[in-house]
Amino acid sequence: MPFQYKKVLVIGATSGIGKALASRIIQEGSFVIVVGRRKENLEAFVHEHGNDKASAVPFDVTELDKIPNFVTNITKTHPDLDCVMLNSGIQRSFDFSKPETVDMSVVHTEFTTNYFSNLTMTNAFLPFIKSKKEESALI
Ligand SMILES: NC(=O)c1ccc[n+]([C@@H]2O[C@H](COP(=O)([O-])OP(=O)(O)OC[C@H]3O[C@@H](n4cnc5c(N)ncnc54)[C@H](OP(=O)(O)O)[C@@H]3O)[C@@H](O)[C@H]2O)c1
Repeated sequence: MPFQYKKVLVIGATSGIGKALASRIIQEGSFVIVVGRRKENLEAFVHEHGNDKASAVPFDVTELDKIPNFVTNITKTHPDLDCVMLNSGIQRSFDFSKPETVDMSVVHTEFTTNYFSNLTMTNAFLPFIKSKKEESALI
C-alpha cells in the first residue's frame, strides 16, 4: 500500500528510527520536514536528499512554552502539511533500588521529552489537523 501523505513533519529525525523513517517517506515520493536539536544532522539530511524533497527546522521539544509558536510557524510555512509524526524521545536508566543515585532532574527531562512535549504538540497541532478537508494524520 503506498504511503498516502504528501508532506510529512517528522519530529526527532536527526538519527535512529526517525531519520530512517524520514528517508523511507522520501523514497515513497513525499516531502519531509525534519526536526531535532542537532542542526548539523538536519543540514546533512537536507543535503543528502535535496531541497526539493526535504527541509529542516531545528527545535528542542522540551521548550514547551515555544511549541505553540513553533506549530504556528510550521503550519503557516507549510499549509499543505498533511501528516505530523511525533517521534522524538530519550531513554535514561534509573535504579530506584539505589535512590541516592537517581537524579530527579533527569527523570523530569525524560518525562518532558517523552510525554509532556507530545501532549503539548498534539494540543497545538489539532486545530490545524481538524481544519483540513483532506485526510490528515497525527502519528
Ligand atoms: N532503537 C530502539 O531499538 C529502541 C527501542 C525501544 C525504545 N526506543 C526509544 O525510541 C526513541 C527513539 O529511538 P532511536 O533509537 O531512534 O533514538 P535516537 O537515535 O536517539 O533518536 C531520538 C530522536 O529524538 C530526538 N530528540 C530527543 N530529544 C529531543 C528534544 N529535546 N528535542 C527535539 N528532538 C529530540 C533526537 O534529536 P536530537 O538529539 O538532535 O534533538 C533524535 O532525532 C527513544 O526514546 C528510544 O529510547 C528505541
